[in-house]
Amino acid sequence: MLLLPHHDRGKTGDAMSITLPEFTPTQESLFLTLGSRALDSRLPRPFLGDRMADDIITTIGYDLGKFPTLNTKALDQRSKVFDVAVRAKRIDEMVRRFLSRQPDAVVLDLGAGLDGRIFRVNPPATVTWYDVDFPEVVALRRRVLPGSANAHAIGADLTDPDWLHNVPSDRPAIIVADGVVQFLELKDFVSLLNRLTNHFPNGELAINAYTTYITWVLKHTRAMAAIADGVANPGFNDPRHVERWVNGLTLLDEIFLTRAPEVAELPLIGRVASRVAARSATASRIMRTMVLRYRF
Ligand SMILES: C[S@@+](CC[C@H](N)C(=O)[O-])C[C@H]1O[C@@H](n2cnc3c(N)ncnc32)[C@H](O)[C@@H]1O
Repeated sequence: MLLLPHHDRGKTGDAMSITLPEFTPTQESLFLTLGSRALDSRLPRPFLGDRMADDIITTIGYDLGKFPTLNTKALDQRSKVFDVAVRAKRIDEMVRRFLSRQPDAVVLDLGAGLDGRIFRVNPPATVTWYDVDFPEVVALRRRVLPGSANAHAIGADLTDPDWLHNVPSDRPAIIVADGVVQFLELKDFVSLLNRLTNHFPNGELAINAYTTYITWVLKHTRAMAAIADGVANPGFNDPRHVERWVNGLTLLDEIFLTRAPEVAELPLIGRVASRVAARSATASRIMRTMVLRYRF
């Protein structure tokens, strides 16, 4: 394992680095979310506080300058990381709540990238956890993240139906997709969800998603150029649409990050804008990512 202990980071600086394979824009996007969590962890009062994310970025020696949104001086640090850090926190809470009711469950983290969610959630040993991502990403994951007795990494394309055969089908499941939906074509997203809901006896789905307008912006702003080519999903404006596309799926929660208590920690402009948008579901969905929980 190459992960540096947090207290050694200052001594080693960024000197250590790993030569990365040629990632596609979709795969490269994992560094945007990982980098956001790393920057969050450096805040005096982080939203999420995932220091492992920072250790991984430092170990790899990844240049976050590829993502102008993380590098710009025009935004303060808290505004840069708010969406990624707070949505991860909400999704972690959803997973913890589910596991407290179903301690024998399976967790599937779809498109897990280099996220160490399992270490944040710290599930009981009775849980079996699967992190799924492309084989190239999983190979890197194995190098830079510590192992865990009840965790498995599956290197596969999520659109390939075969990988699911290796996952037990007789236990409830909590399925996470954090920062992933926008990279799946709508037809692939829908068939993946239908396969998953048919595979398990019951469970929950915890995802974030974007509206069609925000998806268009993601694809067309220069700030997102490094990953724009990977964006394949047109987005959706109403989370209830997913109920119609996937058999047996019911929306349980839509969390508006504009109403998150963490908004109080944003600088004045972000706070005011969030509070104004918070009055309307449509404005909330446009301003910040949707965080959604469904049951099946
Ligand atoms: C924005 S990153 C998010 C990573 C992680 N969930 C996080 O929060 O840091 C999107 C991830 O989804 C993965 N992904 C997208 N489409 C995929 C597919 N068809 N099969 C496997 N992984 C996929 C990418 O490789 C990438 O790691």
